Amino acid sequence: MNILEIIAKKRDNKELSKDEIEYFIKEYTNGNITDYQASALIMAIYIQGMNKEEITNLTLAMAHSGEMLDLSVFGKNVVDKHSTGGVGDKITLILMPIIASLGIPVAKMSGRGLGFTGGTIDKLESIPGYHTNVAIEDFIKNVQQVGISLIGQTLNLAPADKKIYALRDTISCTDSIPLIASSIMSKKIAAGANKIVLDVTCGNGAFMQTKEEARELAKVMNDIGKLAGKETVCIITNMNEPLGSAVGNNLEVIEAIKALKGQMQEDVEKVVLELGAYMIKIAGMGEDIEENKKKIQENIKNGKAYKKLVQLVENQGGDISYIENIEKFKKAKFKIPVICEKDGYIEEIPARKVGEISAKLGAGRMRKEDNIDETVGITILKKVSDEVNEGEILAYIHANDEKLGNDARDELNKIYKIGKEKVQKPNVILDIIK
Ligand code: URA
Repeated sequence: MNILEIIAKKRDNKELSKDEIEYFIKEYTNGNITDYQASALIMAIYIQGMNKEEITNLTLAMAHSGEMLDLSVFGKNVVDKHSTGGVGDKITLILMPIIASLGIPVAKMSGRGLGFTGGTIDKLESIPGYHTNVAIEDFIKNVQQVGISLIGQTLNLAPADKKIYALRDTISCTDSIPLIASSIMSKKIAAGANKIVLDVTCGNGAFMQTKEEARELAKVMNDIGKLAGKETVCIITNMNEPLGSAVGNNLEVIEAIKALKGQMQEDVEKVVLELGAYMIKIAGMGEDIEENKKKIQENIKNGKAYKKLVQLVENQGGDISYIENIEKFKKAKFKIPVICEKDGYIEEIPARKVGEISAKLGAGRMRKEDNIDETVGITILKKVSDEVNEGEILAYIHANDEKLGNDARDELNKIYKIGKEKVQKPNVILDIIK
């Protein structure tokens, strides 16, 4: 077998065999296939697609490219959660401490930003001292000690995904059903949970632009879950405008801390409640979705969820004085208001453009070796359906370079669409696929 034949086969829209897929994954992980050859094959998969069998074989090969975690010490109902990515998506930071505070073990590996979307690991690293790079034994020990650990994808877990994920980001191959489904499900299978709730984002700020595409991705991931013996529920959520208020790394951490103290943005709350209620259900801790939502609200109100976040940060080496006093977080040099130029109602704030503007300020990566700036980004004050008046502040740009900041302000002002008629608040939960 050789990689040139495999690339040519996919380029010519032919089906790859299990052996060919396993060969590619093994040899790319070992470094015997170069990044440029892998790029060619990934691009061919992006363009030509894959059938279900190929996607399943790709997922399983990626899952088995490294260590397979055994979380059975935590029982049969270990639940994991993953999002297909979005703009302002800080749900993991809020939801996982809530779930842990309800006595459900949380052992989650998260990713870095991809394309115009942010990543939980980049966000967590903006808490001084927080270690995301933790050995598997310590990861398990942390869950045993405080019921929760959130870490980066360790070198040993689905290493093929780690390489392919970083590569896709730099060759414009992020929004592809076979590549997203195999990326997410390989990690989830290798990470050992046996119940999975997936947030399948949909809209201009997501990789899946339409409900149909999102449903298709959800169905593929559900099928893979079934095959791997893992109960999987997909919640399709709206990502046409940024989620919540903050877009950018430490800005989103600050929003998450406030949310756990009870100040949660309306759209964020809907996603937290829906995903959380299903996580509780499939963990065997409550059949009734509405009751489960009340349990979540209760643990925010009584402070247990916030306390769990503090324990998590402390246990991972993070400085909890930042959680206790958010004013301590490093700020960008310039905070530039985006001023509304006419009276009316907000019709649209295209999330993807907001993500791109934030990435240009330094919150995201253009190349896989780029560093990100944890302080920059955008805070959205006015959301779709809000009434606005000329002269009001729509948002703030947080920048460390004044020119970049002013450019971002002008760009954001241009993409805010303001009309004369009030539009409905968009639905946040679009569908649930079990
Ligand atoms: N999240 C992942 O882990 N992989 C993707 O491809 C997209 C989102």
